[in-house]
Amino acid sequence: MARARAWARVALMLLPLPALVLHIPLWIEQLSSIEYPIHPRGIVVITGASSGIGRHAALALDLGGMTVFAAVRSHEAAAALLAERPSVRALVWDVTSQEHTEAAVDAVRAAMSAEGLPLVGLVNNAGVSHRLPLELDTDEAMRALYEVNVFGAVRATRAFLPLLRESRGRVVFVSSLAALLPHPGAAAYSGSKAAIELTADVLRLELEPWRVSVSVVEPGYVRTGIAAKQVGAAARARTHPFAELYSDFVGSQDARRLQMEGKADSPLVTSSAIAHALAAPRPRTRYVVANVNGVPAWAYGWLAWLLPDRLQDRVVLRAWRQPVV
Ligand SMILES: NC(=O)c1ccc[n+]([C@@H]2O[C@H](COP(=O)([O-])OP(=O)(O)OC[C@H]3O[C@@H](n4cnc5c(N)ncnc54)[C@H](OP(=O)(O)O)[C@@H]3O)[C@@H](O)[C@H]2O)c1
Repeated sequence: MARARAWARVALMLLPLPALVLHIPLWIEQLSSIEYPIHPRGIVVITGASSGIGRHAALALDLGGMTVFAAVRSHEAAAALLAERPSVRALVWDVTSQEHTEAAVDAVRAAMSAEGLPLVGLVNNAGVSHRLPLELDTDEAMRALYEVNVFGAVRATRAFLPLLRESRGRVVFVSSLAALLPHPGAAAYSGSKAAIELTADVLRLELEPWRVSVSVVEPGYVRTGIAAKQVGAAARARTHPFAELYSDFVGSQDARRLQMEGKADSPLVTSSAIAHALAAPRPRTRYVVANVNGVPAWAYGWLAWLLPDRLQDRVVLRAWRQPVV
C-alpha cells in the first residue's frame, strides 16, 4: 500500500513533465531571438479584410491604436467596413493585380508622409481555399489558388519592402496548420501554404540586416466563411470521370467541414497572434493557434514534427476514416 502511494506520488510529480518538455523549443527560441524595433503607433496594412480573420484583426488593431489600411476587393465591401468602423481606411485591392498593389503602396506612402507615421507592418492575410483530391483538381483551379495565397502575398511584400525597410516594420503571413500536417484533399491549399511558409523563412533571413521581422501565423480551424466560399470545387469533383474512386472523400467532405467548423475558435486567437507578431519586442517566428476538432493546433504541430512520415500517415488516415459525428 505504501509502495503504491509512493508510485502515485512519483506519477503526480512527473505529470507536468511532458508540458515542460514541450515548452523547451519555445524557451530556446525566446533565448536565441533578437529584439526588433517597436512602433507603438503607425500604419498597419492588412489584406483580405472584408471578412473573417482579416476583418477581425483590422478592427482589433484599430482599437489598439494603429492606423489600419484594410484591403478589400470591392467598393461595397469597403463601404460595409467603413460603416462598422469609420476610423479604418479601406483600400480596394485585389492582390492578384499589380496595378492595385502599386496603388495601395502609393496610398500608404502618401499617408506616411502627410501624417508622419511609420509603416508598422504588412499582414498578408488574403487567401482562398478548395479541398479536392489532386486527381480531381485542375491546373486552372490550382493556379488561381496559388495566385492569391502565394503570388498575391509575395507581390504585396515585394511592393511594400522599401517602406517597411525604411521604418523597420514587420511582415506577417497568415498561413495554416495545413502547411505542417498534410491530409487528403489538401494538395492545392497545403501546397500553397507550405510555399508561403518557406518563402517567409527565407525572407526572415534576408531582412534581418534591417531588423524587419517576419512571422507566420498557422491557425487550425477558425470560425470564418472561408469554406463556404469553396463554390465549384465539389461540383467539379462530381463530374470528373474518376469521381467514383474518391466518392468516400467527396461524399463526406461537407459533413467533415461542418464538424470542424462547429468546434472552430473565434478569430480572437488569430488577432492576438497577429498583434504579438507586430508589436512584441521579440516576435515569434511561428504562431500555431486555434484547434482541429477540439484538439489544440499546437499538438498537431508537435505530431508533425515528432512522428516519422509513415507513422504520421497512419495517424492522419486513421483520424480521417473516423465516422463524422
Ligand atoms: N478560417 C480558417 O479556419 C483558417 C485556417 C487556417 C488559415 N486560414 C487563412 O486565413 C486567411 C483568412 O481566411 P478566413 O478564414 O478569414 O477566410 P475569409 O473570411 O474568406 O477571408 C479571406 C479574405 O481574403 C480575401 N481574398 C480572397 N481572394 C482575394 C484576392 N484575390 N485579393 C484580395 N483579397 C482576396 C477575401 O475577400 P472576398 O471577401 O472579396 O472574397 C477575404 O477578405 C486565409 O489566408 C486562410 O487561408 C484560415
